[in-house]
Amino acid sequence: LRIAVFASGSGSNFQAIADQAASGQLDVQVELLVCDRPGAYVIERAEKAGVPAFVFSPKDYGSREDYERVLLDKLRERQIDLVVLAGYMRLLTPVLVEPYYGRMINIHPSLLPAFPGTHGARDALEYGVKVTGVTVHFVDLGMDTGPIIAQEPVPIQEGDTEDTLIERIHQVERELYPRVIGWMQQGRVQLKDRKVAVLAE
Ligand code: GRF
Repeated sequence: LRIAVFASGSGSNFQAIADQAASGQLDVQVELLVCDRPGAYVIERAEKAGVPAFVFSPKDYGSREDYERVLLDKLRERQIDLVVLAGYMRLLTPVLVEPYYGRMINIHPSLLPAFPGTHGARDALEYGVKVTGVTVHFVDLGMDTGPIIAQEPVPIQEGDTEDTLIERIHQVERELYPRVIGWMQQGRVQLKDRKVAVLAE
């Protein structure tokens, strides 16, 4: 399975996926990193991992559709089977979502549909829920609204701050995301009418 990872920030999820691909634990090829923030740490990680990066500034383009057409060309050039959003902080348009529907996944730091948006962990903490978690879902046109593939709970502990909670969420993400990508690679994830079934091994 040929995958592209989209990321905007630190890239700890990118790292977990690239590491498992390199060790053979995960039978995928990380063909491309797409990053919309020049200077993001994930770019260094890609360099070290020997993964080619396409880095761009959205402000250099007239519209989201304009740069997404460029991204779509890159994905097609490299024959990408699966697009993995890992901290990519932009909504996508139909230019990318339609051709990749069912072949594009995202990870979000809450138990969706609770706490969508850019601060899933902080919002859960502020609300006062006792359990939050991590969700991996297919990408549709909404913000964190697509069909859910997998979820893992993360209990909120007495004295948690946003940082301590995010650190525990990241630990869960680093395991869950590669696992789901493995299911995709094995053809075990079926999407039908917004419902996802994961077939047994
Ligand atoms: C993760 O918490 C992910 O759930 C969210 O953005 C964060 C990305 O972290 N969508 P990293 O860049 O992979 O370290």
